[in-house]
Amino acid sequence: MTETKHYILAIESSCDDTAAAVLENDAVLSTIVATQKVHKEYGGVVPELASREHQKNILPVVHQALEKAGISKNQLSAIAFTRGPGLMGSLLVGTSFAKSLALGLDIPLIEVNHMQAHILAHFIDNPEKPAKPKFPFLALTISGGHTEIVEVRDHFEMQILGKTLDDAIGEAFDKCGKMMKLPYPAGPEIDRLAEKGDPEKFQFTIPKVKGLDFSFSGLKTAVLYFLDKKTAENPDFIAENIADLCASLQATIVEILRRKLKKAMEETGLKQIAVGGGVSANSGIRKMVQELAKEKSGQAFIPKFEFTTDNAAMIGIVGYLKFKKNQFSDVSITADARYKF
Ligand code: KG4
Ligand code: ZN
Repeated sequence: MTETKHYILAIESSCDDTAAAVLENDAVLSTIVATQKVHKEYGGVVPELASREHQKNILPVVHQALEKAGISKNQLSAIAFTRGPGLMGSLLVGTSFAKSLALGLDIPLIEVNHMQAHILAHFIDNPEKPAKPKFPFLALTISGGHTEIVEVRDHFEMQILGKTLDDAIGEAFDKCGKMMKLPYPAGPEIDRLAEKGDPEKFQFTIPKVKGLDFSFSGLKTAVLYFLDKKTAENPDFIAENIADLCASLQATIVEILRRKLKKAMEETGLKQIAVGGGVSANSGIRKMVQELAKEKSGQAFIPKFEFTTDNAAMIGIVGYLKFKKNQFSDVSITADARYKF
């Protein structure tokens, strides 16, 4: 028997990307992301500017998503939106928009946790890679705002085993990149430059953090002191060593992750690793996760690139999974910057 077709419009506005997507059940019909460029000159996301940009972008982005999907508003079955975690001013835009639209169309409203969505993005229908992780599995969620190892027992039964105690991994890439005069966001640039560098040229200490938690602030300080010392001796030190600096920094971050992930696999006995979040685009991390899974006779899952960075398709898949369970939200719902799952 064929499944009834449900159309979910999903909206994501937790940080600096305004995104909308339309899903037909678990398949993505359209996914639109408007990345805000205004933050580049500030070297990081400016919350007030992000909120204003979302207000400008949300209507055209939603229109485009519907148009590209070939779906009219009246065909929609539900509206899913990111309730949190994220920047309050940014979340408010998507939340208010979703609430009004659901109310106007008289269809259900579905709240989605952004971090859960990064994990459940693995369940988006992908004919090119039909294999999906099987419960229970480990999720490594790495982005500009988060660094978490999660035990995923079911779609909505997840437990955080370890998290960062200070900076997120994406911040470590971006802040260290800024010290090396790289443009924001520096993560992709470090990845690109690292390819040509020597990862063993410079040594940065791996922090000792209890259990499965992470810390990146010590690394950031170590890089700062190191660069200060070297540039005092030679003002061109950074420019002359940029590839080796990037390769060494990336190798250190990859090693920090590898040790914790290995420990998580050994402690839980779980062998499948599903990676999500913008930083999972990093080539060094992808390689390490694949090698670690192989070493432990397990399996690594990395979603399509467009579904690893912030997007609304991942919000849509959670919307669809909740829709099937009739897990709807009341229109009195509010955004929650620290929304936990
Ligand atoms: O998930 P995402 O798009 O937004 C957040 O929710 O934070 O992640 C953005 C983060 C930024 O810190 C960016 O520098 C990092 O992902 N990033 C990378 C790479 N591509 C994006 N970091 C390292 N290597 C990459 N290739
Ligand atoms: Zn994200």
